Amino acid sequence: MDLKGKLADAINDQVTLEIQAAVVYRQLAIEMDVQDLPGISGWFLAQSGEELEHAQKFTDHMTDRDAQPKIGTITAPNVTIGSVLEAFEAALAHEQKVSESIRNLYRLAQQEGDIDSIPLLNWFISEQLEEEASVGEIIGRVRLIGGDGNGLLRLDAELGSRKEAAE
Ligand code: FEO
Repeated sequence: MDLKGKLADAINDQVTLEIQAAVVYRQLAIEMDVQDLPGISGWFLAQSGEELEHAQKFTDHMTDRDAQPKIGTITAPNVTIGSVLEAFEAALAHEQKVSESIRNLYRLAQQEGDIDSIPLLNWFISEQLEEEASVGEIIGRVRLIGGDGNGLLRLDAELGSRKEAAE
């Protein structure tokens, strides 16, 4: 079934939001690189790549249904980061915003009786749960580490292994 009207517009906005998330993660990667934490920086870079894949999933859905995706305005990432904890807190805040946006898409799809978008939105609801949980867990561990440099270096090595695994 063709995708049109309010739901097509809202999914198009989601494409922009996912690309915006990729830009935010990229800035966080830069902030961590500046703090000499290449592993954590790589983790944020990998996350940035995932966000572009999310945007692609939504654009694919639109084009499969004869809608015309158009990337909207991307703004400069407004993140001021003084610590690793602040970087992950900024990431979590952004993920929570994305999660709420996905829930709103689901609500709208239901209102519009758009059954075809439900499997995709279900996938994203699970994905957001996972993303919030993994960032939340890292925040918990960063809090445990406190100001301990050795702990931070261990976390940096561990999160850096995600980037290596992806290469
Ligand atoms: Fe695509 Fe992490 O939200």
